[in-house]
Amino acid sequence: MNEEQNQVLEWNKSMSVGNELLDNQHKQLLKQIGVLKFALLSGDAVERLREIGEFLENYIKQHLSEEEKYMLEYNYPGYENHKKIHDWARQKFAELLARFFNENEDKMQLAKDVERYLHDWWINHITVEDKKYADYINKLKVGQKNTNNTENE
Ligand SMILES: [Fe+2]
Ligand SMILES: [Fe+2]
Repeated sequence: MNEEQNQVLEWNKSMSVGNELLDNQHKQLLKQIGVLKFALLSGDAVERLREIGEFLENYIKQHLSEEEKYMLEYNYPGYENHKKIHDWARQKFAELLARFFNENEDKMQLAKDVERYLHDWWINHITVEDKKYADYINKLKVGQKNTNNTENE
């Protein structure tokens, strides 16, 4: 692994959860994490880091609750477990993002932690945990279509 690597893995079709809104949020999340990582590595001003950090924090919160709503809507049986993972993430990200407000923070260390807890965590979460509700709900949707041709959304 190259530490100087500025690129981050972007969203691709294999990560799709079958819901346009959530897919777009995942896309945007990964993109903004890339922006943040680049800003850290290129030594951007604390003000700028804070701005991107705050945007991400809000965006993450919004995404997690949107996703929880979606799982509840379809009575996804893994909801409780998924919610626990989200709660852990909420706390972890709040801790991480609090460090953006600290001027004395080592930016290189922060960049490494962003990589680990934001980027790697998200990729893993989307491809493993989110994929589980996606498979369940997508199957359910196919079943609904087969038994009922009229779409009631
Ligand atoms: Fe997600
Ligand atoms: Fe999730």
